[in-house]
Amino acid sequence: MEHVTPFKLLCLLLVLSTVTTSSMSEDIRTYIVHMDKSAMPIPFSSHHDWYLSTLSSFYSPDGILPTHLYTYNHVLDGFSAVLSQSHLDQLEKMSGHLATYPETFGTIHTTHTPKFLGLENNFGSWPGGNFGEDMVIGILDTGIWPESESFQDKGMAPVPDRWRGACESGVEFNSSLCNRKLIGARSFSKALKQRGLNISTPDDYDSPRDFYGHGTHTSSTAAGSPVADANYFGYAKGTATGIAPKARLAMYKVLFYNDTYESAASDTLAGIDQAIADGVDLMSLSLGFSETTFEENPIAVGAFAAMEKGIFVSCSAGNSGPHGYTIFNGAPWITTIGAGTIDLDYAADVSLGNGILNIRGKSVYPEDLLISQVPLYFGHGNRSKELCEDNAIDPKDAAGKIVFCDFSESGGIQSDEMERVGAAGAIFSTDSGIFLSPSDFYMPFVAVSPKDGDLVKDYIIKSENPVVDIKFQITVLGAKPAPMVAWFSSRGPSRRAPMILKPDILAPGVDILAAWASNRGITPIGDYYLLTNYALLSGTSMASPHAVGVAALLKSAHPDWSPAAVRSAMMTTAYLLDNTQGPIMDMTTGVAGTPLDFGAGHINPNMAMDPGLVYDIEAQDYINFLCGLNYTSKQIKIITRRSKFSCDQANLDLNYPSFMVLLNNTNTTSYTFKRVLTNVENTHSVYHASVKLPSGMKVSVQPSVVSFAGKYSKAEFNMTVEINLGDARPQSDYIGNFGYLTWWEANGTHVVSSPIVSAIAPIIRT
Ligand SMILES: *[C@@H]1O[C@H](CO)[C@@H](O)[C@H](O)[C@H]1NC(C)=O
Ligand SMILES: *[C@@H]1O[C@H](CO)[C@@H](O)[C@H](O)[C@H]1NC(C)=O
Ligand SMILES: *[C@@H]1O[C@H](CO)[C@@H](O)[C@H](O)[C@H]1NC(C)=O
Ligand SMILES: *[C@@H]1O[C@H](CO)[C@@H](O)[C@H](O)[C@H]1NC(C)=O
Ligand SMILES: *[C@@H]1O[C@H](CO)[C@@H](O)[C@H](O)[C@H]1NC(C)=O
Ligand SMILES: *[C@@H]1O[C@H](CO)[C@@H](O)[C@H](O)[C@H]1NC(C)=O
Ligand SMILES: *[C@@H]1O[C@H](CO)[C@@H](O)[C@H](O)[C@H]1NC(C)=O
Ligand SMILES: *[C@@H]1O[C@H](CO)[C@@H](O)[C@H](O)[C@H]1NC(C)=O
Ligand SMILES: *[C@@H]1O[C@H](CO)[C@@H](O)[C@H](O)[C@H]1NC(C)=O
Repeated sequence: MEHVTPFKLLCLLLVLSTVTTSSMSEDIRTYIVHMDKSAMPIPFSSHHDWYLSTLSSFYSPDGILPTHLYTYNHVLDGFSAVLSQSHLDQLEKMSGHLATYPETFGTIHTTHTPKFLGLENNFGSWPGGNFGEDMVIGILDTGIWPESESFQDKGMAPVPDRWRGACESGVEFNSSLCNRKLIGARSFSKALKQRGLNISTPDDYDSPRDFYGHGTHTSSTAAGSPVADANYFGYAKGTATGIAPKARLAMYKVLFYNDTYESAASDTLAGIDQAIADGVDLMSLSLGFSETTFEENPIAVGAFAAMEKGIFVSCSAGNSGPHGYTIFNGAPWITTIGAGTIDLDYAADVSLGNGILNIRGKSVYPEDLLISQVPLYFGHGNRSKELCEDNAIDPKDAAGKIVFCDFSESGGIQSDEMERVGAAGAIFSTDSGIFLSPSDFYMPFVAVSPKDGDLVKDYIIKSENPVVDIKFQITVLGAKPAPMVAWFSSRGPSRRAPMILKPDILAPGVDILAAWASNRGITPIGDYYLLTNYALLSGTSMASPHAVGVAALLKSAHPDWSPAAVRSAMMTTAYLLDNTQGPIMDMTTGVAGTPLDFGAGHINPNMAMDPGLVYDIEAQDYINFLCGLNYTSKQIKIITRRSKFSCDQANLDLNYPSFMVLLNNTNTTSYTFKRVLTNVENTHSVYHASVKLPSGMKVSVQPSVVSFAGKYSKAEFNMTVEINLGDARPQSDYIGNFGYLTWWEANGTHVVSSPIVSAIAPIIRT
């Protein structure tokens, strides 16, 4: 089994959104209103009628009437509406009013503007080709490009009767565009339109149609149909396929164009609410709102309701790495996905006139350009300036030539300067080539290592008429090391609940090839934009749909597994070694990463099918956890929609498949975890505990042998972790040691592994 195979398909970049508080005008704003349905007066037949009646009863001194936007049926009991301060005051006096939050916004982070390039995807038949069949994956994103070949439905069975979704017509989107693959498409823009957003072509469409390419990319990554010969400008031919190629897709468009990409909390809640009503089995969200306490975060609130219905929700962890405490979507009922690299690389080969051939460097230049025996110029230009810096080079020297820039003395990729002087292309000597994204390659250049750069420099200096050949468009398979933790991938601890390790797991998120909106140019080459049906993107946005695709495979094979069981299966079977058999590296530092970078490790779909044991969690456990976090009764009611609950069992020790020991600014601590394992095999089995620990960490497991009678039989264990860091008194940003607890099946093959991490991680409450 080649572990990266499933991921060679798609790549591109994604985006994650953050949120800012509404800066909307003076008095009139959109609010999300939480109500206690048990306080609904008898005469009303539905809570929707109650809300409408309430709004129409409001006195409006300034003549501005309240505007109802959405009534929520699943994600929360309540509604959203545009209200004045006076309305708000009246609302707060009503019985049954629980809480009101002003609208917040999420946008996509485009650190790497999507540019793209083709890439070769060789896969044969999908292992166990029926995986994912009849799972419905809801994607909340920028919309979808339904004409993409990735959404063709050849050979798919009719849409299941249980599906209650719809394909909404709208601007440049006809409901007849849905099929047996794309079975739902809806758009949620009321709040943004109410606020004054003009959703108009060609920037965006007031319909489920994708205005950007992002939603098309994430959808096809999760469940695109196989497309033979997916390629870009005739090269990088291969079969592109989603992770769950037979699963169905339903698009819930919640991100819209407003200079960048924006999503309103009330629209996002409406999208999740509808996805639950429609009957999706899984959801993926590649966007985020700021990490407030959970009751204020629309994704956390919506995902709780989904979890209770057995819907698996995966979310991007954020693109705010590489520093700690940058996790988005860190609620423990969400599966939070970090991004890793894959074993594909894009390259160009440089051959020098002195016979040194095929110096390989990084390049993603998207055209098949012939560079043969072109003069080579050393871009030191004016010695009083930095090499290749702005205006340092005289166009007379460099026009039409390949310019070599020695970045040991400079530091950036000066492609603007290369364009200014009319260079035919460039060779940059730099060790930061791995950080370049396809969008950086709008002119033909190659980034070579400083060691190789020295060969080029030496040749130029010693040669009277140096010349060079460059061959672009090389796709390297089996690049090493891979995976690495992507530099941008957000890192733990989670600010709001640091006792739960986040991210949960790593999935592919760098230079992923997937379907694209075919009218969106990405990379400007000269005066025109290249158009493509498949594009390369990077981001945790790309990682989440990989994980939801894997989850669809698992749920298809094990329909009775809870979302927590699915996540546990992924986490306890994740791998920790890269394709050089070394530890997974952090791309930023070039040293071994930690579980705060990659969670339980890298997702391993085939192993996750058969985990042996799972750590399961029920809705009540999450309530006990919120109680343990000292959430108020009001906060818990909002998240759980329960008018009554008890905190008698308050407990921060969720039955999670990873362990966090919080040091609280001391250098010694001891903590006992109590966990329950569930056998998911049909057979009787026995497992032995073993631990792998760093110095300073001691662990005892009681009992250290557990046995199971049959399927769903359970066994409890206690694990006490003692940390003694000796003189190494941790700093407040200390991110500590980590080890592993592993359960080995006696006379069997199952291995159930969990990270144990110690860190100083205060809960951030405001
Ligand atoms: C939608 O497609 C159907 C079938 O192709 C066609 O008959 C109908 O006119 C289309 N509607 C719109 C609004 O374009
Ligand atoms: C669009 O973005 C601008 C700039 O961020 C913001 O001021 C404006 O309120 C946004 N419009 C809508 C409708 O959200
Ligand atoms: C919305 O944008 C379109 C296209 O730019 C323009 O024609 C239209 O007048 C705008 N509408 C409003 C209400 O601003
Ligand atoms: C080199 O740079 C210096 C300082 O910017 C400038 O005075 C000089 O004219 C430049 N020489 C050439 C040949 O461009
Ligand atoms: C919750 O409150 C109790 C009592 O004040 C306190 O002991 C405990 O540390 C608090 N828990 C958290 C997670 O802050
Ligand atoms: C953590 O440290 C704070 C301040 O030093 C203290 O108030 C709190 O009780 C400690 N919590 C635990 C669990 O030791
Ligand atoms: C775990 O520890 C608790 C007390 O701390 C004890 O009651 C329980 O029996 C222990 N469980 C096991 C499986 O040893
Ligand atoms: C940390 O450990 C050292 C050596 O055991 C001890 O001297 C020191 O007091 C400890 N510091 C704290 C804050 O516990
Ligand atoms: C494992 O196999 C050995 C040798 O066949 C046997 O003695 C032992 O009882 C088995 N253990 C379990 C837990 O089945």
